[in-house]
Amino acid sequence: MAKYPFTCALVTGASSGIGQEIAVQLGMSGVPLVLVARRADRLEALAARFKNVEVIVADLSTSDGVAQVEARIVDSSKIPIDLVVNNAGFGSSGLMHEIDLERLSREIGVNVLALTRLSHAAIKAMVPNGRGYLLNVSSVASFQPGPRAAVYSATKAYVTSFTEALHEELRGTGIRVTALCPGFTRTEFSEVSGTNSISSQVPNFAWLEATDVAREGLRAVTRGKALCIPGALYKGVSASSNSSPRILGRRITSLPSRRN
Ligand SMILES: NC(=O)c1ccc[n+]([C@@H]2O[C@H](COP(=O)([O-])OP(=O)(O)OC[C@H]3O[C@@H](n4cnc5c(N)ncnc54)[C@H](OP(=O)(O)O)[C@@H]3O)[C@@H](O)[C@H]2O)c1
Repeated sequence: MAKYPFTCALVTGASSGIGQEIAVQLGMSGVPLVLVARRADRLEALAARFKNVEVIVADLSTSDGVAQVEARIVDSSKIPIDLVVNNAGFGSSGLMHEIDLERLSREIGVNVLALTRLSHAAIKAMVPNGRGYLLNVSSVASFQPGPRAAVYSATKAYVTSFTEALHEELRGTGIRVTALCPGFTRTEFSEVSGTNSISSQVPNFAWLEATDVAREGLRAVTRGKALCIPGALYKGVSASSNSSPRILGRRITSLPSRRN
């Protein structure tokens, strides 16, 4: 079992997929947890498996929901949080003008605004202590535009850029900041994001398991890596997309959706 240097970890989107796996791996290592998501029943079931677990039921697409979590991050009367994992997120699939605008606003709210506000709260609380960890879950989708997932890819481009910038800003402060950029990972994401028709075309070898993504992400933030791309396949794809002309990346990412 891995040993982690964290006193207490807050994980958003802990009710499913990658966030749940991150919480399980931390819980199994004895790290006290604060679990955040909307589905209370799932959080309570997870909390019951470990000692020292708090649950915050919050909708991170709302200002009140984010404020609830910010309040816990800065609450010095409780066990101080030294790892914040901004993992909650979802996508939408289709032509941008045909997707419900309210849904897109919520997507930007969770993927960008909540992540930014919680990163701000975390760093502000950590800087005076001279130590802390921030793990922001982005995606390999952040490395190129995503036709038919235009808003999702753009939100993740923000997350990677923002997180890499924070990594540099905080160099030498004792605070470690990492962007975790997984490729296709078996979770509830496709169901929630309406991308089943795309993911059903993804070959078996290209799928990652959430346990592996979680393990690599936690290892990377512990070691202070700026960027973590789990799996050899996606490391290669990301390296080649960085060195290819942008038009090629755009065309390739639009191919699976055009077949429908
Ligand atoms: N799976 C992939 O292929 C893949 C690839 C690259 C990156 N990612 C990223 O990985 C992260 C985790 O996704 P996943 O794959 O594990 O998907 P998932 O199984 O659908 O989990 C998403 C989590 O986010 C939470 N969430 C969604 N909307 C929320 C809201 N408004 N307020 C609070 N929590 C909310 C969900 O909790 P509730 O519904 O209970 O609120 C759930 O716990 C996301 O940021 C996603 O973009 C996923």
